Amino acid sequence: MRAALIYFTGTGNSKRTLDYAKENLPFECDVYNVMEDKMLNPNDYEHIFIFYPIYGFNAPKPIIDFVKKINKSDKQINCVIMKNSGEHLFWNNGSSLYLASCLKRKNIIVRSEYHYLMPYSFIFRHTDYMAYRMDTVAKGLIKLDIKDYLDNKYVPIKRFFLDRAFAFILRIQWWGGRFNGRFYKIDMNKCIKCMKCVKDCPIHNIKFENDKFKFGGQCLMCQRCVQNCPKDAFKSLGFFTSWKVNPRYTFIEVSEYQKEKKPNYCKKNYQKYFAVSEARIKENA
Ligand SMILES: Cc1cc2nc3c(=O)[nH]c(=O)nc-3n(C[C@H](O)[C@H](O)[C@H](O)COP(=O)(O)O)c2cc1C
Repeated sequence: MRAALIYFTGTGNSKRTLDYAKENLPFECDVYNVMEDKMLNPNDYEHIFIFYPIYGFNAPKPIIDFVKKINKSDKQINCVIMKNSGEHLFWNNGSSLYLASCLKRKNIIVRSEYHYLMPYSFIFRHTDYMAYRMDTVAKGLIKLDIKDYLDNKYVPIKRFFLDRAFAFILRIQWWGGRFNGRFYKIDMNKCIKCMKCVKDCPIHNIKFENDKFKFGGQCLMCQRCVQNCPKDAFKSLGFFTSWKVNPRYTFIEVSEYQKEKKPNYCKKNYQKYFAVSEARIKENA
């Protein structure tokens, strides 16, 4: 049995979820980063797993573009979506509906869909405690979810009223990001010209010419450049400068609760997610 593991990641969280899944899959796995030019032949696989971060209540555009390029499979293939995002609000549920329709056209059928909390790469920075706790819970849940999937216990995509319309409207983020990305600016007093941002950009949107950084019109808003900058030198993120998250999360073990920067943001939602998930992990330990 073979499985294809397809992923897009901005700041690494989705890749972490992929690695956790891979550890638990009893198949030979081929990994596809949608930003690389590696073509997938669906006929080579019995299972397809897809990992992505939710962007503006949708799947990122590179995931959709990759799926659209796949040839139609001769046989029906089972697919699992393992998405992650900064909060667990039900508005995020519709994010995979369009992706699932694109996959269906290729004879790839989404059987199960799972949603994990991972720390925000944008909007605000979680504490190290929250990042560690989210990562640990995701790791534990992925193990159980894969076991359920292998036992044919499927979890269909959760729906809500007007979910398709909601996700469709917010797909404006795909184009808005490209426009906004042109307004990114770097503080040259802080910048050490390590060129990490230029090298890391998944879509090669950042150029350094004539001693100046130039931001093109392809930005995915993935925040990799911003989060990885060793000097926190980004002084403008266009319209979203106040949503900057830097530096990267380390995911090191932090056992002590730290005062959250945004203690009331989605508080109940986070508490519910942790309570239900940690109880499930404990029960199955
Ligand atoms: C442009 C952008 C839009 C986002 N939109 C959402 C969203 O609609 N809902 C949400 O819960 N999290 C949202 N997030 C947070 C990410 O889904 C989350 O931080 C994710 O773990 C990042 O994964 P990555 O490290 O693989 O890029 C957004 C992040 C970015 C950069």
